[in-house]
Amino acid sequence: MHKIAVIPGDGTGPEVTAEAIKVLRAAADKFNFKVELTEFDFGGERYKRTGETLPDSAIDELRKFDAILLGAIGHPDVAPGILEKGILLKARFALDQYINLRPVKLFPGVETPIKDKGPEHIDFTVVRENTGDLYTGTGGVTMKGTPQEVAVQSAVYSRFQVDRCLRYAFNFARKYGKKARGKAATNTLALCGKTNVLTYVYDLWERAFHEIGQKEFSDVAREYYHVDATCMWFVKNPEWFDVIVTGNMFGDIITDLGAMIQGGMGIAAGGNINPEGVSMFEPIGGSAPKYTGQGVINPLAAICAMQMMLVTLGEEKAATAVENAVMYVTGNKLKTLAAGRMGYSTSQVGDLVATQLA
Ligand code: IPM
Ligand code: MN
Repeated sequence: MHKIAVIPGDGTGPEVTAEAIKVLRAAADKFNFKVELTEFDFGGERYKRTGETLPDSAIDELRKFDAILLGAIGHPDVAPGILEKGILLKARFALDQYINLRPVKLFPGVETPIKDKGPEHIDFTVVRENTGDLYTGTGGVTMKGTPQEVAVQSAVYSRFQVDRCLRYAFNFARKYGKKARGKAATNTLALCGKTNVLTYVYDLWERAFHEIGQKEFSDVAREYYHVDATCMWFVKNPEWFDVIVTGNMFGDIITDLGAMIQGGMGIAAGGNINPEGVSMFEPIGGSAPKYTGQGVINPLAAICAMQMMLVTLGEEKAATAVENAVMYVTGNKLKTLAAGRMGYSTSQVGDLVATQLA
């Protein structure tokens, strides 16, 4: 029995989450496992009603689950930052979800803006560190509102944070890299940094990367790219990449670029993972308030987030089957992934995946 906390959230979050759950139930039937779902109403509406984002008591509650499935957080009436910091970042930090795993995979039939590249070229994973860097809020402001205002926000990393992220990334490359999947002669982990400028933080990353790689993962090939060059190669030669590991801020930025080359926010999913604790899975796109309630938004990203959850729950067979069903639907059914132009409604897309799975 897998106990899942569901936070549908704001905007189109509930619509896409419903489809992810539809496919989850179809997978549970087919692969003989049980799920118990508990819904939570954290999000913009609750905040407006009660002033509460994600209270500490909720964190304690969430700790009791095997995984969390999140729809979307973001409300047009709530100032930017409140819900992001109060719910999303709070969960990531309080539950110590120190990995943000973001696959960048172009599925069959999905259009990429990159000319002459297809599914055989765009198939890599970004392991984004999820608890450190500019996201720690270390810093401050003085003389605010005056012409002399000074603002400081620091990129913070400890060796402990870097080491645990790197070990996760090396293990991931060993288990799911291109060699492991029969697509290359080696499994490769690339560090994405900025060692020419951030000579403290990315020097720490680079030394740890090679030390751990050499000692514990000599079977995994190591590469290094500066972050700016990484962006260039994502567009020019995405086939070069297998598994990429990077800090929180660079990871945030390069995975939006990654999401675009894999077909956009309609398909991009991620997992906030605590390998020793409770992980939370989410479509990367936002709450898309303007599409709320119209049944036109693409639920595949939410379905793919649920698919990643299945891997974490140990339901690998079901996860593979869900991914295959999604690829069948993108390859044979949908016109495009764009909201309103799929040729199907949100719930029809969920039905297509669920039927294909069964
Ligand atoms: C993401 C988002 C968040 C982040 C925001 C909403 C706080 O952009 O999940 O990538 O910066 O991590
Ligand atoms: Mn982001």
